[in-house]
Amino acid sequence: MKEKWWKNAIVYQIYPKSFQDTNGDGIGDLRGIINRLDYIKNLGADTIWLCPINVSPMMDNGYDIADYYNVDPDFGTNEDLEELVEAAKKRGIKVLMDLVVNHCSSEHAWFKEAVRDPKSKYASYFIIEETDGKEPNNMRCYAAASAWERIGDSNRFYFHSFSREQPDLNWENPELRKEIIEMMKFWQKKGIAGFRIDAIGNIKKSKEALEQKPIPTDSSDGMASMEKHVLMQNGIEEYLRELKEEVFDKYDMMTVAEVDVPEEKMERFIGKDGLFSMVFDFSYTDIDIEKRNGKEWKRDWSIKELKEKIFKSQNAIQKYGWGSPYLENHDQPRSIDKYVSKEEIGYESKTALGALYFFLRGTPFIYQGQEIGMENYPFKDADELRDPFAVERYEQSVKNGENAEADMEYFRARGRDNSRTPMQWDDGAYAGFSDTEPWIPVNPNYKTMNAKSQMEETHSVYHFYQKMICLRKSPEYGKTLTYGDFEGIETEKDALIGYKRADEKYEISVWVNFGNETVDLPEKLEQNSILLNNRTEAPESKLLPYQTILAVKEK
Ligand code: GLC
Ligand code: CA
Repeated sequence: MKEKWWKNAIVYQIYPKSFQDTNGDGIGDLRGIINRLDYIKNLGADTIWLCPINVSPMMDNGYDIADYYNVDPDFGTNEDLEELVEAAKKRGIKVLMDLVVNHCSSEHAWFKEAVRDPKSKYASYFIIEETDGKEPNNMRCYAAASAWERIGDSNRFYFHSFSREQPDLNWENPELRKEIIEMMKFWQKKGIAGFRIDAIGNIKKSKEALEQKPIPTDSSDGMASMEKHVLMQNGIEEYLRELKEEVFDKYDMMTVAEVDVPEEKMERFIGKDGLFSMVFDFSYTDIDIEKRNGKEWKRDWSIKELKEKIFKSQNAIQKYGWGSPYLENHDQPRSIDKYVSKEEIGYESKTALGALYFFLRGTPFIYQGQEIGMENYPFKDADELRDPFAVERYEQSVKNGENAEADMEYFRARGRDNSRTPMQWDDGAYAGFSDTEPWIPVNPNYKTMNAKSQMEETHSVYHFYQKMICLRKSPEYGKTLTYGDFEGIETEKDALIGYKRADEKYEISVWVNFGNETVDLPEKLEQNSILLNNRTEAPESKLLPYQTILAVKEK
C-alpha cells in the first residue's frame, strides 16, 4: 500500500459561519479560525476542511458562489485566508477548501451575463433551453420543485439541481472546464492542500434530462426524480480525469469527493490511479432516512444493519482504495441523536460511537463540536429553521395543504440546522462564539456542554477524542491503525460490534458494545493489552453497556 500524506491525516471540518465570530456581527469568520488553531492542534487534528468561504449571497451558506476568486466579506479577506494558511502551516496543519463547481450562484457575473444577453459566451456556461413557453420537461430538482426556472418573462429556462438560486454549470463546455481548472490552481498557489469536492457526481446530465420532452414520471406529482438522470452519468469520468491530471496529481493534493460510488466503479474512482484520494460514503450515515414521494423521511433501522453496512463499506473500500470515515458534517444532524436513543445519550455512548468509526480504514473526519459531543438543537417552530432547503420544503407543504408538522418533526431529527448551531466554546454569553446574537441560535445546553469545561475535566468526550487521535498518530500503533487491514468480526449479539486492524506487527481489536446491556466478548482481554477504554473497569471477557475497548496483540 502506497503511503501518502493524507492517509494518516486527521481532518477537522469547520463550518466557518458557526465556528468563531471575532468582529461582533454574529457570524463566524476567518480570524476566528486563526484564533482557534491552537485548539485544533491540541485536539490533534492536522488538516482542516473549510466549508465554502467564497463571495456568496449566502442563500445556501456559501454553497452558492458568486465569485470564485475572493473570500466573502462576512468571513474576511483573501489576506486573512493567506494568514490562516500560514498560521496553520506553522502548527503543522494543512488547509482544504470546499470546491463547489456543479453550480454557482445566480448572483455570479457569468450567470448575470447569460441572463442579460442570450448570445453572450456565458450563456453556454449554463444549461439553458428556449421553449414555446412551457418548462422543457418535468424534471424535479432535489428540492420539491421543478429543475427548470424561467428567466425573467422570457421563454428561456435554466437548469438547477439544487435551489433556483444555484444554476448548474455546463460541464459540456470546455471553456467552462478550463475556467474551473484555472481557479483551482489559483487557490493551490495560495497554499491550499486539497479540496473537498461538493456534489461532484452531478456534473454530467443524461440526454433525457435536457431534452424538451416528458420524462417517465416516478411519483404522484407527475414529475421525474433527478437521481437517475444527473448522478454518475456515463462520461463524467472524462471531466474528472481532467481535474486530476491538470491539478490534483500535479500538486499532490488530497481530494475527497461528495459522491456515492457503486462498487463496480470504485477502482476507477479511488483505485491506484483513481480520480480522487477518497470519496464520502453515505451508506451508514444515511441509514435512518429513505425517499418517499420525492422527499426524505425517517426510517427504522437496526444495530445489525448498521454493523453490516459499515463492514460492507469497509470491505469494498479496502479492496480498491482509501476511505474517509465520518459520522457528522454540515448536512447531517448530530450523530449521537441519530444512533442512540435519548435516554441513553451520555459520555459512554458518545465515546463508544466515536471509537466505532474512528479506527476504520481511511482518513477520519471530525465535524466541529462532535469532539465535545454536541447534540441536536431542540427546535420548536418553523421560524427557528435557517436551512433554505428546510424552509422551502416547509412552505411548500403549507401551501399544498399537506401536514407540515410532519416535515417539522423530520427536521427536528434530521434537519441540517442541527449541526450548524454555533460551536460551544464556554459557558459565557452565546457560548463564547460571539458577543452578539448569532445568526442561528446557540443550543441551550451550552452551559454544561462546552469545550472549556471538557478540556478541564479528564473524563470528557474531548479527552477521549484526543486519545483516539493520539493512538492513530502513535509511533507504535499508528501504522497498524492507518495501513493495517480491516476485518469485521462476526458476533452473536447484534449490539456487540467488533473489528480488527492488522499488519505484520500487530493485530488491534476494536470492541464496541452499542447497547445498554452487558455483553460477553468472544475473547479474553489481557489487562496489559488494552490501549483504550472508555470506562475505568475492564471486566475480563465482558463489555459493560456502551463500553468500548481497543486491545492489541503482537503477531
Ligand atoms: C452539498 C453540500 C450541501 C449543499 C449542496 C448544494 O451536498 O454539502 O451543504 O447544500 O451540496 O451545494
Ligand atoms: Ca464575524
